[in-house]
Amino acid sequence: MPEKFNCSKCKDSGWTLFTDKNGFKIAIPCDCEIGVKSVLRRAGIPERYLDCSFENFKVSVPKAVGLKKAKTLLYDYVELELFKKKYGFLIKGTVGCGKTHLCAAVARALVKKGFYKIYFVDFKELLDDIKSTFSFSSDINEADVLSPILNTSLLIIDDLGSERNTEWTEDVFARILNYRYNRGLPVIITTNYFDREVKGALSGETLEERVGIRMRSRLYEMCRDIEIIGPDYRMLMHKK
Ligand SMILES: Nc1ncnc2c1ncn2[C@@H]1O[C@H](COP(=O)(O)OP(=O)(O)OP(=O)(O)O)[C@@H](O)[C@H]1O
Ligand SMILES: [Mg+2]
Ligand SMILES: [Zn+2]
Repeated sequence: MPEKFNCSKCKDSGWTLFTDKNGFKIAIPCDCEIGVKSVLRRAGIPERYLDCSFENFKVSVPKAVGLKKAKTLLYDYVELELFKKKYGFLIKGTVGCGKTHLCAAVARALVKKGFYKIYFVDFKELLDDIKSTFSFSSDINEADVLSPILNTSLLIIDDLGSERNTEWTEDVFARILNYRYNRGLPVIITTNYFDREVKGALSGETLEERVGIRMRSRLYEMCRDIEIIGPDYRMLMHKK
């Protein structure tokens, strides 16, 4: 009896072979769900967000402000291929309002359109990964960690400001942004910090106080601002 596969094209491997004009066979991701997920995993999207999409992002959340606008701006960014215009977004939002979900949705929509050069990092994890290369026993160096982040077509940095800034964290961030700015490579950044006092925000600190004036200033040049103020969706789900 023939084996049963969900996807006959890739036999559930997530990859299909394509012959290029020189006759070389190259593996390309299949456009089925298995293929999309394997690209998203390689791009660093956390397991828990692999199913997040624009389709399952609800905009009618009670007492939430800015959700619909955020979704529309990011959806158009992908669909109208505005990321080619070299700008990205700074998504400022209260805890649990859906920032990481929206980033995962951007990545998923891009992959579905055939854009694979995306990289997602949690800023704190990135700093930890870089720090771990400083140890004598590490067999990778800082450049190995930074290279995909610097060179990817679209970089997503999640949770900027979760780590208190130091001269070193500012320097890492400034290096990433300067490199990408000089090459017109866009970045999408999320943070829990705002530029003004917001009820329900994490603390009394502003984004500039949290990440430093140099970092905030660079972001004005590279990103359009998105603000979401709303309830913690995790809590809403928990109450149901
Ligand atoms: N508008 C929404 N529609 C559907 N699911 C949502 C929505 N907002 C959030 N979620 C879901 O709620 C959970 C929390 O969302 P998410 O992690 O994106 O929030 P966040 O803003 O990144 O939070 P944090 O500030 O802690 O980083 C996720 O499982 C996400 O899929
Ligand atoms: Mg998040
Ligand atoms: Zn397939």
